[in-house]
Amino acid sequence: MRVRRVTLVAVSLALAGGTLAGVGPALAAPASSAYADIVPAPVTATATAGVTFTLRPDTVISTDTPAVGEYLAAVLRRSTGFALPVRPAGAGTPNGIALLLSGAPAATADEGYQLDVTGKAVVLRARKAAGLFEGVQTLRQLLPPAIEAPTVQHGQWTVPGGHVLDFPRFPYRGAMLDVSRHFFTVAQVERYIDQVARYKVNRFHLHLSDDQGWRIAINGWERLATFGGGTQVGDPNHGGFYTQADYRALVTYAAARFITVVPEIDMPGHTNAALASYAQLNCNGVAPPRYTGTDVGFSSLCVSKDVTYQFLDDVLGQLAALTPGAYLHIGGDEAQSTTPADYAMFINKAQAIVAKHGKAVQGWHDVVHATPLPSTVAQFWDTTTSDAAVAAAAQHGTKLVLSPANHAYLDMKYTAQTPLGQDWAGLTDVKKAYGWNPGAYLSGVPSSAVLGVEAPLWTETILTSANIEFMAFPRLPAIAELGWSPQSTHAWGAFKLRLAAQGPRWKAAGMTYYHSTQVPWPAGA
Ligand code: ACM
Repeated sequence: MRVRRVTLVAVSLALAGGTLAGVGPALAAPASSAYADIVPAPVTATATAGVTFTLRPDTVISTDTPAVGEYLAAVLRRSTGFALPVRPAGAGTPNGIALLLSGAPAATADEGYQLDVTGKAVVLRARKAAGLFEGVQTLRQLLPPAIEAPTVQHGQWTVPGGHVLDFPRFPYRGAMLDVSRHFFTVAQVERYIDQVARYKVNRFHLHLSDDQGWRIAINGWERLATFGGGTQVGDPNHGGFYTQADYRALVTYAAARFITVVPEIDMPGHTNAALASYAQLNCNGVAPPRYTGTDVGFSSLCVSKDVTYQFLDDVLGQLAALTPGAYLHIGGDEAQSTTPADYAMFINKAQAIVAKHGKAVQGWHDVVHATPLPSTVAQFWDTTTSDAAVAAAAQHGTKLVLSPANHAYLDMKYTAQTPLGQDWAGLTDVKKAYGWNPGAYLSGVPSSAVLGVEAPLWTETILTSANIEFMAFPRLPAIAELGWSPQSTHAWGAFKLRLAAQGPRWKAAGMTYYHSTQVPWPAGA
């Protein structure tokens, strides 16, 4: 087991014979085409030569899904200054921008979309509102980079003509933020949610508790937040926590971006903040001091006490009530202060409590050493490509989310010179972040066992939104692409060019990012 410590192209695809099964890289569009620059790479995207749609001051957004229409209008109004009224979709030929829940091919399923851009109209069709939302993210990338600016710009707001048919490879495409090692405000978390939504991420995993801070108010256990939330790494005097209203606001904000929040309460280890807040949770009845260092593996809830399970019932019950998503994440990693037998017993009881509250369990892959319920999802985080216990669980039906630390952990340094981050899983520049296939990564684990991917960002060294962005960009889009795009599009040479085209967008949006020397960023980006 690895211990986390601070020591520390053009992808225009033709539908072969009209069947999706035959999709493969073909008919590469010119590198100058915006359709070749979309991240994550779509299933198919073709430009129509000589055709351009232009956004104008009188352009109207017509839709049968006002929430997505208003989202798009809000994005476009900021930089264009146009009114962009959102109107109910009418009969007849769409004009302007139309977002419609009709006419999309079956292949678009739950999150896919079809986009057609002609000289008169941008027509986005999907079967579900989520598909319209993901299509809107593609449309943004077909407009000039200045469209991402937070203030009105003078621009020619053109969208090149073309056609996109697109849908995801995996249903789970996640980002995780550790708000325990350092606390991030609701506004900071929302900023990151907005950034990951642009890459069609649909799960936001909030690591809400750890040794260094407890970040969610729990009724009846007030000291968890008011005392256990009062610290963070390197700082005994400052921390923070979300009220339940704050947490609901985050869930609502994410849901408006078709992102499901997966809240994590890490247990039985990584619990010093809880143990410091309530003496009775400790086997010896003595509360340890709060902790602001970065070691792992030293804390454990007292697995033999009834009060521990009353605590779990209260915490997980309240979190279940606050969380519309199907999963509660119970952590389960690095429980080095708990015997294997106690660990299995504890995780099994925690699973039963989660089930009693109507939710399913997600846990770090260590939970396969207990007895996973059929609904339990294991999140792989190790640096190996072979784990017998994980493979056995997968063969018995346990579904996996893949976050291999040496590819997907956004807190790893890019190079030895990177001022932020850690290096226990190795240095991870963007080519390495991108260089793996989630469908064939772990030996003995079939692609059918893989729900998807997640890019965690642990925050021992991360203090600000600029720090988050520096570590997440450009690697978050790499992991998001592995989750969304067909394996047939996987090619570093093309990906780095598409990534390069994102740089001016991030710059226009006022984001920080790492100018990896592996990516040919345009001058000035
Ligand atoms: C982990 O990095 N301990 C999940």
